[in-house]
Amino acid sequence: MITLATIGTSTITERFADAVAQTPGIRVDAAYSRDVARARAFADRIGAPGASDDLDGLLATVDAVYVGSPNGLHAEQARAAIRAGVHVFVEKPAAPTASEWDGLVAEAREHDVVLFEGMRNVYDPGLAALRDLLPEVGVVRRVSFAYCQRSARYDLVLAGETPNIFDPALAGGALLDLGVYPLSAAVALFGEPHTVTGLQVPIATGVDGAGSALLG
Ligand SMILES: NC(=O)c1ccc[n+]([C@@H]2O[C@H](COP(=O)([O-])OP(=O)(O)OC[C@H]3O[C@@H](n4cnc5c(N)ncnc54)[C@H](OP(=O)(O)O)[C@@H]3O)[C@@H](O)[C@H]2O)c1
Repeated sequence: MITLATIGTSTITERFADAVAQTPGIRVDAAYSRDVARARAFADRIGAPGASDDLDGLLATVDAVYVGSPNGLHAEQARAAIRAGVHVFVEKPAAPTASEWDGLVAEAREHDVVLFEGMRNVYDPGLAALRDLLPEVGVVRRVSFAYCQRSARYDLVLAGETPNIFDPALAGGALLDLGVYPLSAAVALFGEPHTVTGLQVPIATGVDGAGSALLG
């Protein structure tokens, strides 16, 4: 039985815990929150026995951790887990830069633990079906990927606030939130691009609120 701790107490962590509950051979043993009362309430909600605001202490008690914190915390928390010999399932994007990701991969290899980025769409059967069908199209000369959604939290930006998703200090912004979906799908289907140019639409918090990229 793989024992797991969760980081983050928002909806996405709850949905992950729901999925774990439906999966044989793995169980959530404890929930971490910056606030111990919130950790306890969340653990009760997902049916986990343990709750803590001490991440290092928690990492000493489990086999694996789910990192469902804001983007800017992922690399640091994943690194702490890897160094504790704990396997990591980290939400997308696992790290804000390629070099930080490379550093995590190197440490995961060194500590012989699994490091997995939860880039859900790349594991979707729909993408696999698309990959299988691509040869039927013939020579592919141009592909367009788009993912656009008005964030409900943009209203907070318009009101002068800085919600996590648009906070530069937490690696917020459209590219690192939804933009990673079309990008990861493009890379999964066609490989890494040789050239990248792009434009972004800056918003008041200093991050990109939207953008486009041209991949060669
Ligand atoms: N795979 C998917 O389909 C999917 C869907 C949605 C989101 N996500 C990813 O999941 C992650 C979390 O997204 P979210 O919208 O749920 O984020 P969020 O609500 O802003 O934060 C998630 C959790 O992190 C903790 N947290 C919040 N602010 C923090 C801060 N300043 N410093 C440290 N911890 C903080 C909070 O837990 P405590 O206060 O209890 O510590 C909170 O419950 C993101 O990386 C996002 O990209 C993935």
